[in-house]
Amino acid sequence: MSETVQLTINDKSYDLPVIKGSENEKAIDISKLRAQTGYITIDTGFKNTGSTTSAITFLDGENGILRYRGYPIEQLAEKANFLEVCYLLIYGNLPTKTEFSSFTNNITNHTLVHEDMRSFLNAYPTKAHPMGILSASLCTLSTFYPESHEQNRSEESVDLTIYRLLAKLPTLAAWAYQNAVGHPVMYPKNKYNYCENFLQMMFAMPAFNYEPEPVIVDALNKLLILHADHEQNCSTSTVRVVGSSQANLYASISAGVSALWGPLHGGANQAVIEMLEKILNDGGGLKKWVEKAKDKEDSFRLMGFGHRVYKNFDPRAKIIKKAADDVLNKLGIVDPVLDIAKELEEVALNDEYFQSRGLYPNVDFYSGIIYRALGIPTEMFTVMFAMGRLPGWIAQWKEMMKDNQPIGRPRQIYTGEKERNYKSIEKR
Ligand code: ACO
Repeated sequence: MSETVQLTINDKSYDLPVIKGSENEKAIDISKLRAQTGYITIDTGFKNTGSTTSAITFLDGENGILRYRGYPIEQLAEKANFLEVCYLLIYGNLPTKTEFSSFTNNITNHTLVHEDMRSFLNAYPTKAHPMGILSASLCTLSTFYPESHEQNRSEESVDLTIYRLLAKLPTLAAWAYQNAVGHPVMYPKNKYNYCENFLQMMFAMPAFNYEPEPVIVDALNKLLILHADHEQNCSTSTVRVVGSSQANLYASISAGVSALWGPLHGGANQAVIEMLEKILNDGGGLKKWVEKAKDKEDSFRLMGFGHRVYKNFDPRAKIIKKAADDVLNKLGIVDPVLDIAKELEEVALNDEYFQSRGLYPNVDFYSGIIYRALGIPTEMFTVMFAMGRLPGWIAQWKEMMKDNQPIGRPRQIYTGEKERNYKSIEKR
């Protein structure tokens, strides 16, 4: 017999069905609650609310487990190629050789961005944040492909939008950076793989040749994989909610980029490095900063610490910490910010405040250190995150469309004024 949970309201009992996941996670199904009882539930920040069932990513925050379509993140980060992971997330299985070659070709052949997009780019102020440019550019792309607005899209047309998004986002991201530094934009080159191509668009110049170093390409590949999906986080939920109104995929992804930008979400990677630099410039004394983070009167938080779902450790942070060490060693870089990061981790992890609240370094605590070592400027860190998260957003949007989910529209409990009558301005 299937499990139910009993809810009693004013002596009347209701049996609510329990939904079980493939890893035995349990949820109380309240989809008929209002119709049956007149009540709704309140859960600001959705801390206890499952917005959907999903077959894409499994995350166990207590035990630090993260799997994409069943594959452990540790194995994928160690052995896979980012485009392989994109295919896995979006289509459900690892690609065969033929599938991978066709997928890669399709992406390689769509990396060019329409020249008219350059007019938009040229109009941004030189100091424009690249996340603002990226979000706006992705939405603008939809105007170049009006067929993406059509309802009842064919599978082929959705696939084409997917190739275009995966192919063009790195081009747009690199252009946003070139715009900020006043350099000429570099065009994609088909001889390079996905990561190499992005790096050459970032760092090549018409005046000299640039060949991406394998150490840097490997590190970038790993970082993109680690960020590729994270189930129903703030930006992914945004993509799903925007997409649930049947808005096109470009617009939905653009909304996801905006949600990611905030410092409590993807913007944390930029905020972490800015914080570590501040601590370093302040003389490196950590105690003062840890005390500030614990002080409820002070708005300062240790950026890169804490996570809504990981309360023991973030498995991605473990992999990234090791990768940061490897990259710095291989490139022969000594970064005092890395030393501050390690000391801060040590101090915070031994502090009762952080221990009792389950606050551990998250994925963004060390990613910025690798990005710095790769020569990527701080303002681009969240853009790098967006590049990694893109396949996850696409997979989640695709799943929601396939499942024909209803429009996302929460309810509320109104706490404002009761009805009152309008008075003309002379009588107020
Ligand atoms: N520094 C100091 N105290 C913190 C921190 C922190 N980084 N994070 C949480 N706390 C404290 C809170 O003040 C609260 O304390 P209280 O119980 O005494 O009131 C308690 O820990 C719980 O914090 P919440 O904000 O309720 O936890 P929530 O799950 O809502 O927030 C979040 C998670 C947003 C990630 C939070 O830990 C935070 O702001 N971290 C810093 C920003 C950051 O690194 N974000 C990146 C997250 S990873 C990602 O999105 C890719």
